[in-house]
Amino acid sequence: MAFQIVRAAPPPAPLLRAENVSLEYGAVCATHEVSFDVYRGDRFVLLGPSGCGKSSLLKAAAGFIKPAGGAISIDGREVTGPGPDRMVVFQEFDQLPPWKTVRENVMFPLLMTKRLNRHQAEERARHWIAKVGLAGFENAHPHTLSGGMKQRVAIARALAMQPDILLMDEPFAALDALTRRNMQEELGRLWEELRFTLLFVTHSIEEALVVGNRILLLSPHPGQVRAELNSHQFGLASAGSVEFQAATQRIHGLLFGGVEDASGAPEAATINTSPVISNVILAHAGIHAEYPITRSMDPRLREDDGAGARADGNVSRIAEKA
Ligand SMILES: Nc1ncnc2c1ncn2[C@@H]1O[C@H](COP(=O)(O)OP(=O)(O)OP(=O)(O)O)[C@@H](O)[C@H]1O
Ligand SMILES: [Mg+2]
Repeated sequence: MAFQIVRAAPPPAPLLRAENVSLEYGAVCATHEVSFDVYRGDRFVLLGPSGCGKSSLLKAAAGFIKPAGGAISIDGREVTGPGPDRMVVFQEFDQLPPWKTVRENVMFPLLMTKRLNRHQAEERARHWIAKVGLAGFENAHPHTLSGGMKQRVAIARALAMQPDILLMDEPFAALDALTRRNMQEELGRLWEELRFTLLFVTHSIEEALVVGNRILLLSPHPGQVRAELNSHQFGLASAGSVEFQAATQRIHGLLFGGVEDASGAPEAATINTSPVISNVILAHAGIHAEYPITRSMDPRLREDDGAGARADGNVSRIAEKA
């Protein structure tokens, strides 16, 4: 039996860090002390029931609203307002000014922020419009496009700015099921090619599993962290598989039905009490995450299997090789 000592350098610093973020609208408490870290290249999903504060968290990350408590930082700088480093795609189709053509819509932030001159902006817009599959529609106005096409324009407009992080708030929720699936696939393809960092909000468990590599589960109003999961093993190709169904039921149980493990797997074997173990940290340490749940805020889930890797800032582990 051979042993291999795997020791990693300290994990990379997160790109976006939310620390104990409490968001309030007057007397309404939208979230309570929510913390999470998004690393470069993550497809990080905020998942939870309606009203748990997902959109509010995204808006706070975008700099549209200020936390009543805690802070959000990007690359170590506190977010104090909107910036071109964080582009947002919303659910609403009317996020595109209707009087502008597709090309003008994509060019608009590039020109507004004076990043590029008109000629450069036109070139950049042409490139991104083609990337999202809309070549030939440059001169079309939004009202002549389908919902899916409008969302493609919004994605092209956001990615053309080459933001540090793309923020998406239920971008496909208003689309029919088939188009939604196509858009999820398209987003996956874009990510495979570009490896941008994504913070994605949804209340669909299936969509969270398909889109995300990490999922933060939020409890109902006010939103609090319930658990954090690794979901990199799932995608559209695995949707419908036994594992996918089990993960879906499991998340449903965590969100709505206490802590029963619908997959039938013993809880103690899958729960880890470490603060956060991200795929990135594990990958950094040369460890493949076998266990989907990396953090649980539910005291009933705080059992330690003793086998999972620790994200203690200096991950080290002896991996046993057969
Ligand atoms: N502008 C606002 N003024 C007052 N209360 C608000 C405002 N925006 C959101 N809220 C409240 O904050 C809480 C969280 O809302 P938020 O829109 O962030 O939830 P959500 O998780 O995105 O829900 P959904 O899935 O329905 O979009 C809710 O109770 C909501 O009523
Ligand atoms: Mg919302």
